[in-house]
Amino acid sequence: MCSEFRVRELVLGIEGLALLRHAMDADEEFLAARLAEIRAFADDSTTDLPDRRKPVSELGAADGYASWSTRYDSLPSAFIEVEEPILHGLLDRGPVGTALDAACGTGRQTAALTARGYRTIGVDQSPEMLAHARRKAPGAEFREGRLEKLPLADNSVDLAVCSLALTHLPDLCAGIGELARVVRPGGRVIVSDLHPFVVSLQGQCLFVHDTGRLAFVRNHRHLHGSYLSAFSAAGLTVRECHEPVFNGRLAPGGYEEYIADAARAAWEGIPLVVIWAAEKTGASAA
Ligand SMILES: C[S@@+](CC[C@H](N)C(=O)[O-])C[C@H]1O[C@@H](n2cnc3c(N)ncnc32)[C@H](O)[C@@H]1O
Repeated sequence: MCSEFRVRELVLGIEGLALLRHAMDADEEFLAARLAEIRAFADDSTTDLPDRRKPVSELGAADGYASWSTRYDSLPSAFIEVEEPILHGLLDRGPVGTALDAACGTGRQTAALTARGYRTIGVDQSPEMLAHARRKAPGAEFREGRLEKLPLADNSVDLAVCSLALTHLPDLCAGIGELARVVRPGGRVIVSDLHPFVVSLQGQCLFVHDTGRLAFVRNHRHLHGSYLSAFSAAGLTVRECHEPVFNGRLAPGGYEEYIADAARAAWEGIPLVVIWAAEKTGASAA
């Protein structure tokens, strides 16, 4: 079922979260500022809050990324800023060989892999995202395909990377089983994903659709227990898990910057991303 909500409710939620998270250490000035903003947004008297009455509509991955592809690389993202140094550090380790970048999007990790000498295959469901990836990583090969049925043979790559995409699958096992299938025994699987903390706190990534309306592609929450079960069922042994936290970067130009103090207080110390490094040590249980 597709859902819709308004920016005004998001803003009130962030103000409330800021109060909740700082209930024990907030000073009077902080409390007064939050209450003043809540009053202003609740009675709709703040007319300059960007997009306050705009509906934010859910789109499927195909429609959503077709539109998002044109702006995807143009704005800085806290998720990417905290993820990249750790994930690229993992890419720097281990012997170079053939790599898959699953759900490669505009080719961020594909380019990082080819720059490190990997022969790389990028796969994504979105032809529009792939068009950007082809420009960004001209040395790589690209195939249109789905995480749930990767267009690669069994045991055909040394390394499978999947970044910030498994959250779009309701069933984690479908994606992790496929990553494990295409990696050779002894090969590595590196996954980054939205952290279940942030997804639980309404962590949907908003973007401006071609039509000018705000939109999102649903992020599903996957708890660490679900990842561990999925890795184990797929014959993968977890070697590392990293959970980098919010770095203070707010989405530029939108409602978060308008309530910057509340947003930073709400997200402070919250892990944004989880990064798993695993090795194919066994046979899949499937
Ligand atoms: C947030 S982007 C991440 C792109 C890239 N991995 C990165 O980290 O920059 C998510 C990508 O997942 C792709 N995607 C979503 N669901 C998918 C599915 N079921 N199969 C293949 N790709 C999918 C989207 O098309 C999009 O390019």
